[in-house]
Amino acid sequence: PKHLLDFQEWERAQLESLLETAQMMQEVLARPVKKVPALTGFTVATVFFEPSTRTRISFELAARRMSADVVSFTSSASSTAKGETYRDTLRTLDQMGIDAYILRTDAAGVPHQAHRWLQKPVINAGDGWRAHPTQALLDAFTLREKLGSLEGKKIAIVGDILHSRVARSNAELLPRLGAQVVACGPATLLPGKLPGASLTTKLREALEEADAVMALRLQKERMDKGLLPSLPEYIAGYQITEARLAWAKPEAPLLHPGPMNRDVEIEGTLADSPRSLVERQVANGQAVRMAVLYHVLVGKR
Ligand code: CP
Repeated sequence: PKHLLDFQEWERAQLESLLETAQMMQEVLARPVKKVPALTGFTVATVFFEPSTRTRISFELAARRMSADVVSFTSSASSTAKGETYRDTLRTLDQMGIDAYILRTDAAGVPHQAHRWLQKPVINAGDGWRAHPTQALLDAFTLREKLGSLEGKKIAIVGDILHSRVARSNAELLPRLGAQVVACGPATLLPGKLPGASLTTKLREALEEADAVMALRLQKERMDKGLLPSLPEYIAGYQITEARLAWAKPEAPLLHPGPMNRDVEIEGTLADSPRSLVERQVANGQAVRMAVLYHVLVGKR
């Protein structure tokens, strides 16, 4: 079965084709009636064991806009609250004729296991610290919309890199599209290595000559020893402000996957400024997820 767990099995041509399909889906979304019959007869399940606003709603809208049926599983309102395991939950859903699963878990690797348990297309909507491939695809789509080709472009990712599946997926994807990725944060929030990216604690060095800057949320829910450095120290050293964004290339856009901690990792006024692509990322997420659903359910790979 086709799937999107991370980008390991995806070649550049396949990624380019997916992004081209997303462009076509963007045209569908610009029509007064935003609906096509492409997935008529398919049933898609969103299965989220962690909270989500953007990813779950945009996947559900993406499926509906292509005429699929959608069921939505939320762990807090399910029998997982009574101790049912990931596997038993997914196998139970599978007896009801689901054609594809969109899965978010707090543990890394569950989407890979789910793919083996179910023998059905599985799309990873975020697994722990490990990967969030559709976020990286919508980031790449948004960057290309703004910058054109990413060949030779420098993309700076700033914040809590250690706990970030968004950083890992972007470091995996963006270099395949020609970009150079620099990841920056305080030493306590950097991993030992990040395949696809260079690492630095020096914010100015990361931002200088950057074609775009991506700020990431401090993931307090994944910090068992509390935040190091302290919040005031983080803000003093790493918050993306208008003054610091001026170190990057003129007009370099600012991205953030959301949800944002305003005035922590990103200056609130900057988040609302014309430099910010935060809302455009959300809008593009729907077209990108339509393309992903189309590729895993009916497209060629
Ligand atoms: N960016 C992102 O994954 O947002 P949600 O957690 O709201 O889905």
